[in-house]
Amino acid sequence: MSRVALVTGGSRGIGAAISRALKDAGYSVAATYAGNDEAAAKFTDETGIKTYKWDVADYDSSKAGIGSVEADLGPIDVVVANAGITRDAPFHKMTPDQWKEVIDTNLTGVFNTIHPVWPGMRERKFGRIIVISSINGQKGQFAQVNYAATKAGDLGIVKSLAQEGARAGITANAICPGYIATDMVMAVPEKVRESIIAQIPAGRLGEPDEIARCVAFLASDDAGFINGSTISANGAQFFV
Ligand code: CAA
Repeated sequence: MSRVALVTGGSRGIGAAISRALKDAGYSVAATYAGNDEAAAKFTDETGIKTYKWDVADYDSSKAGIGSVEADLGPIDVVVANAGITRDAPFHKMTPDQWKEVIDTNLTGVFNTIHPVWPGMRERKFGRIIVISSINGQKGQFAQVNYAATKAGDLGIVKSLAQEGARAGITANAICPGYIATDMVMAVPEKVRESIIAQIPAGRLGEPDEIARCVAFLASDDAGFINGSTISANGAQFFV
């Protein structure tokens, strides 16, 4: 029987590429989305991957949603915590609401996604947790105090979970994408985006598939001894 993978924010952008790559690698994939019904329906039409709608910021919805995925597909073996938002503003203009929305979705959302599947993974002695962090969690970013805090927090989550899960056959790793050609990056004002691309030694934005291939590797049996690590995929823009 094929392994089951859950990808949050899995119907658009990097998440859609991850869902497709895992399906191609033989997983039964469930992709979640928060609000864009049209994009989710189109994604399912094109890929045959079932989508589930819930707000990762809400624990009870996440738990119930994960329950439906497991009823449909079986126990979840691979969790890709990818869902994330930006509410960029220079700190002196950032509102408490902008701070809270990003923390609730990007950081608490990771807890809400992993916590309900963790006991089952421990019992079955197998699990793969992959959290999509960001270059901006490693280096910080002008106008992203909120986002950078969550993405740095992701690294603390995987390093801690790696230690807790290692003896139960569970690995937890993070990927830090650099600037990837998605709606999120395209929403940055054009002039700012051009200046960002000028700082990438590769001379281009990354492609969603370049992140999806990292995920497929970390999910595989070949990556069993890689645990608590951070993979940077950023075209040489930043080294840790
Ligand atoms: N570094 C230094 N200064 C910067 C800057 C930067 N990266 N970006 C903007 N500034 C400066 C501007 O030049 C301007 O300075 P002046 O006032 O001296 O002209 C000032 O900061 C901006 O002030 P504004 O009052 O105009 O700012 P604003 O309230 O209109 O906000 C902004 C504009 C939201 C900061 C906008 O510039 C923006 O979106 N910047 C991009 C931020 C960014 O890189 N986000 C990453 C998104 S992609 C992502 O997050 C995915 C991932 O994981 C990589």
